[in-house]
Amino acid sequence: MPKFQAPRGTRDLLPPEMPAWRQLEDNARRLAALYGYQPVETPMFEDSAVFERGVGEVTDIVEKELFRVRSPGGDADRWALRPEPTAGICRAYVEHGMHTLPQPVKLTMFGPMFRYDRPQAGRYRQFWQWDVEAIGDAGPAIDAEIIELAYRFLLEAGVANVELHLNSIGDAVCRPQYIRALMEYLAQFADQLPEVERHRLNKNPLRVLDTKHPRTLELLTEAPRMADYLCEACRAHWDGLLEHLTTLSVPVTPAPLLVRGLDYYTRTAFEFYERGEQGQQSALGGGGRYDGLIELFGAKRTPGVGFGVGIDRIAAAAAKRGLSATTSKPLAIVVGADPAATAARLKLATELRAAGVPASADLAHRTLSRQLESAAKAGAHFAIVVGDELEAGQVQLRDLEAGTQRPVNLADLARELQRAHTSHHHGD
Ligand code: HAM
Repeated sequence: MPKFQAPRGTRDLLPPEMPAWRQLEDNARRLAALYGYQPVETPMFEDSAVFERGVGEVTDIVEKELFRVRSPGGDADRWALRPEPTAGICRAYVEHGMHTLPQPVKLTMFGPMFRYDRPQAGRYRQFWQWDVEAIGDAGPAIDAEIIELAYRFLLEAGVANVELHLNSIGDAVCRPQYIRALMEYLAQFADQLPEVERHRLNKNPLRVLDTKHPRTLELLTEAPRMADYLCEACRAHWDGLLEHLTTLSVPVTPAPLLVRGLDYYTRTAFEFYERGEQGQQSALGGGGRYDGLIELFGAKRTPGVGFGVGIDRIAAAAAKRGLSATTSKPLAIVVGADPAATAARLKLATELRAAGVPASADLAHRTLSRQLESAAKAGAHFAIVVGDELEAGQVQLRDLEAGTQRPVNLADLARELQRAHTSHHHGD
């Protein structure tokens, strides 16, 4: 066992995984631009209060999973690593007065998030999200735009059988009545609820709907449903959302128990799953509407809606479907007859790279045959052999795949390799 390992719940993304990962990132950035969402970056840590207030004090994310940062100055709980991007983005919206821009302000971010959760398959302590937010539009059409964008991304990623689980969790007008009804119902069975659910029932009753406990789940099948408590405005929003999603051909799976693990949601709440795989740790993405969040950061009430998708899980789901790891092979490696002549090899590689040709030099002091062996092992298409003819402006171009070799003038080398590069799609 090596002395140091990546911290539990984190991992190294090694070169063979990166092409697929990059592909997802490229797709995300391209789709965001296509839909008119502009990139932002917020700090990876914020005042802890941004998350306590934004995500909610009685959520697992804040109660148990926040990575607090101890600064050398000693204020132990002042900062926290971001567990999710929405709170920070809304903080930035308010701080920079984005309410003066044309609304909605459409923003997107791609980056790592941190949650001190119990690691397991698909659940990491550092994971990546692609996040999309539209702030300043009450919907429901924009909710449908956002959901369709996430859906498209998942389809493009090659995830088969994407399922959209959709619910409305009401608003400040109707949710309190629903919560009261839910509490009354569950109170009858309080003695059958485990300790953790009783705690939730007292402090944040909707969280009980998120339970994994089998008996509680059983009880919930007969519990009151939010759908029956929606006020007129929330009902109209829900109907409008369904209508827009139908128009956009996004299939919907109604999910009456879906409440999400964050407190800021109002009305729309959704999650994406790969059909047949359920359970919290396999949600590929989620999001919803947060009409009360901006207000919590001290600005006037402003509606918002967005989603975050989990890149780690999507990459794994895509890999399972055979869109698997690849390694990129070098196009050309400069080798030489004189093991000590590293300067000549490095100079030639540098010139090729300046001309846009992906090339590297063998800089080990070893025999030509060893250098050639190593180039072949690395999967290089060409070895460029530097020898005595260099003074006459020539090198040998050895095609390691075809097993052929011919002299090439230095003046033509970059062009020849360029042609081979475009026809063979090496590199990247
Ligand atoms: P979330 O559901 O907490 O929502 O996270 C979104 C996605 O991030 C999840 O569906 C999952 O794919 C991935 N994810 C979450 N935790 C982990 C983990 N420990 N390991 C690996 N992947 C994980 C949010 O974060 C909201 N900010 C979404 C949103 C944006 N709502 C409105 N706007």
